[in-house]
Amino acid sequence: MNEIMLPVEIGAQEQTFYQDVVEGLSETPKRIPSKYFYDQKGSELFEQICDLEEYYLTRTELGMLDGVASDLANFLPKISRIVEFGSGNCEKVQYLLDRHSSIRRYLPIDVSESFLLFHADRLMQRYHGLDVLPVVGDFNVPISLEEEEGISLGFFPGSTIGNLDRWEAIRFLRNAADTLGTKSYFLVGVDTLKDRDILLAAYDDAKGVTRDFNLNLLRRLQQELGANLNIDQFEHEARFNQEQSRIEMHLKSRCDQTVRINGDTFRLIEGETIHTENSHKYSVESFQDLARLGGWESCRVWLADGEMFSIHLLKRID
Ligand code: AVJ
Repeated sequence: MNEIMLPVEIGAQEQTFYQDVVEGLSETPKRIPSKYFYDQKGSELFEQICDLEEYYLTRTELGMLDGVASDLANFLPKISRIVEFGSGNCEKVQYLLDRHSSIRRYLPIDVSESFLLFHADRLMQRYHGLDVLPVVGDFNVPISLEEEEGISLGFFPGSTIGNLDRWEAIRFLRNAADTLGTKSYFLVGVDTLKDRDILLAAYDDAKGVTRDFNLNLLRRLQQELGANLNIDQFEHEARFNQEQSRIEMHLKSRCDQTVRINGDTFRLIEGETIHTENSHKYSVESFQDLARLGGWESCRVWLADGEMFSIHLLKRID
């Protein structure tokens, strides 16, 4: 049936946003989960980030995908279903769809409902005979899929797995193994560890798009949670945490201030930060070790020129 379905929803979203923010701002150090970047506006800003000179990740991965898709067609000719975790604008999956005519079903999972439905619909127009079943929600939540004849391929491009810390990533990989079922494979895009100046520039671009993306979170707090705060009293900060092998984004308070949300007050002193994102960077071996702990063995790895980015093909360990 080539008709858009109502999206399946996972999790009651507003409730969670409010609770997660209050909980995160009550912790020391303060934090807000990075999935809340992606409302409509945040998803659009992220698309702009992907076009930035400094943000090498997207263009590097896009440059690899056609080759990966055609290699994969030799290796795994009978993929029938793709489940994408954090599908965004659904651009990358098209490289797979173009090379794998066996794919009948595509399940994009994303937190940004309007963005997801718009792009899911566009994909259906373009690929006749493809069933697109959008799932609105956090891709960390396990979902139960219908049984599928043939191979299910998980797809998790963009190094979004880097947003998860080590334990979250292992739990995510295990959930994905349950979701995708036996005889499944997983194609994961992973950013590599590299020179810190290159990494820092990618998260603190000259045009300030990444700054706007980070500050957009504060606008969501104001508009959706009625938070009483002044965005101008915060600045964007990107840091390289060598020990954890990750870039961190923070919202740094320019002064001593109090943020109010409903009845709760949160005090920040000058220079204190709200930690908004981690982007972990992995060597090939360190990612393979992580994948194994998550229930997946490595089948193949593609590396971009200069080892700027990696794409891993994993097979579920039964
Ligand atoms: C979409 C999670 C891969 O961590 O590089 C871009 C998000 N944050 N610039 C990343 C992001 C700041 C991005 N991921």
